[in-house]
Amino acid sequence: MSDRALPVTGVEVYFGDDEIIVSKTDLKGYITYANDVFLNIAGYAEDEVLGQPHSMIRHPDMPRAVFKLLWEHLKSGEEIFAYVMNRAKNGDHYWVLAHVTPSLDAAGTIVGYHSNRRVPKRDTINNVIIPLYKQLRALEMSGDRKAGLEASSAKLEAMLKEKGMTANQLFLSLA
Ligand SMILES: Cc1cc2nc3c(=O)[nH]c(=O)nc-3n(C[C@H](O)[C@H](O)[C@H](O)COP(=O)(O)O)c2cc1C
Repeated sequence: MSDRALPVTGVEVYFGDDEIIVSKTDLKGYITYANDVFLNIAGYAEDEVLGQPHSMIRHPDMPRAVFKLLWEHLKSGEEIFAYVMNRAKNGDHYWVLAHVTPSLDAAGTIVGYHSNRRVPKRDTINNVIIPLYKQLRALEMSGDRKAGLEASSAKLEAMLKEKGMTANQLFLSLA
């Protein structure tokens, strides 16, 4: 399904400050576990999400450059913090601050991935993340898919370089 075909309502929905949205995936990003907070806010039954690619809740306004960064970190064994807007089944959306980590076996081999998400600060979302992601997404939509992603990733990298921060430092400084 193309991004454009996904239904979105523009309606934001919220979860509690004391709640954590949890999911786990296999090495390819297929969902192996989702807690009740995840299922409630996303509007799915457990059997609708298990075995599905995590991109099933991707919102079409999310920049691909953020997911590129996420996978680069995870594949090299690093954790990542990221602000993500997700799409619920009915097209509503919700913002999270995600902490995504590789899961290791006793020998230290990556066997899957784990994400814990909490409620992000409203000011950070409104004043920093929404304008930044809008800019990145516009770059991604401006050329063909590959060129767009390259331009968006380059913009994000240039911004981090200018601040002298890694992506994790930037995201955590805003938490
Ligand atoms: C543990 C884990 C959790 C993830 N959580 C989300 C999420 O909440 N929302 C999302 O859009 N992508 C999430 N992703 C990233 C997706 O796997 C995917 O890369 C992203 O949705 C972009 O889709 P695409 O790769 O098909 O472009 C997660 C990946 C992992 C490994």
